[in-house]
Amino acid sequence: MTFLDQSYLQTSSWKPDLFKGKVVFVTGGAGSICRVQTEAMVLLGANAAIVGRNQQKTDDAAKDIESLRSGSKVVSLPNVDVRDVKQLAAAVAKTVKELGRIDYVIAGAAGNFLADFNHLSSNAFKSVIDIDLLGSFNTVKACFEELRKNKGAIIFVSATLHYYGVPFQLHVGAAKAGVDALSNALAVEFGPIGIRSNCIAPGPIADTEGMARLSGGEKGRIAEKVPLQRMGTKQDIADATVYLFSPSASYVTGDVLVVDGGAWQIGQGFGTQDYPVTFKKFFDAPKGGKL
Ligand code: HXC
Repeated sequence: MTFLDQSYLQTSSWKPDLFKGKVVFVTGGAGSICRVQTEAMVLLGANAAIVGRNQQKTDDAAKDIESLRSGSKVVSLPNVDVRDVKQLAAAVAKTVKELGRIDYVIAGAAGNFLADFNHLSSNAFKSVIDIDLLGSFNTVKACFEELRKNKGAIIFVSATLHYYGVPFQLHVGAAKAGVDALSNALAVEFGPIGIRSNCIAPGPIADTEGMARLSGGEKGRIAEKVPLQRMGTKQDIADATVYLFSPSASYVTGDVLVVDGGAWQIGQGFGTQDYPVTFKKFFDAPKGGKL
């Protein structure tokens, strides 16, 4: 099952062969948001390689995405942990062997759970920093020669959590602030060699693993409170991805494209705005204090 289908070619604003002959390498590509980013790229002519930790999930996603366009190739790269740069380097080598090149990189693999400071161990904090921030760095490190050769482009999947203080997300906010800083500095370092680096910061996107982990069943109320009066869709993020990789964005680098219906502008915090009530269970949990 895919989220997008052939109708995307008629209903979206993009040309069908926009990415013909190009290859996108996606970490977290079997997940929810990054999978649909990959679907859009494949529908629009690209081949893809998706990296995941789970064998079955990654293989199944690759097969489904490949079925979207006749003649497309989607390589499954399972059992790869973005915290290990050597595993990523092997995944890149396999991609180049099977697909010939890498033009675009989506660094999307991420880890998340709700935890207040008192219940967040040092290792829990480190795990999220390592997956989100070190994993993003490792992804670019492993793909660099291909990006340089092909004057490629990178999209980091960030968030809006660090624009203000979002409770129970201090680990993720800290990691994503680092991801934004990484992207900005890479945009400057890579500009002269023709590589662009940008972030997409999704807001509340419906039917994603992130929302399932974070919303606490508040879906309806979140939509009401977003200025554009709806939750985002995975296609909203896919469309932003297509724009940033397309020639239309050839002068855009070091940017963060926030795709959130205006939510962060009014400090929504994804439904944690009522946190003393909505998430009272976290305060009521037995005292943590674990190192
Ligand atoms: C407190 C927790 C916890 C929880 C895990 N830990 N879950 N602490 N509350 N709910 C702690 C563990 O106890 C352990 O610390 C440490 O975290 C590492 O846990 P492991 O299970 O050993 O780590 P690992 O197997 O590497 O798993 C990493 C993970 C896991 C982040 C904890 O949730 C994961 O793999 N997630 C990947 C998928 C995912 O999260 N997708 C959502 C992406 S959405 P101790 O001290 O006990 O050793 C997203 C959206 C971002 O990112 C922005 C949205 C707004």
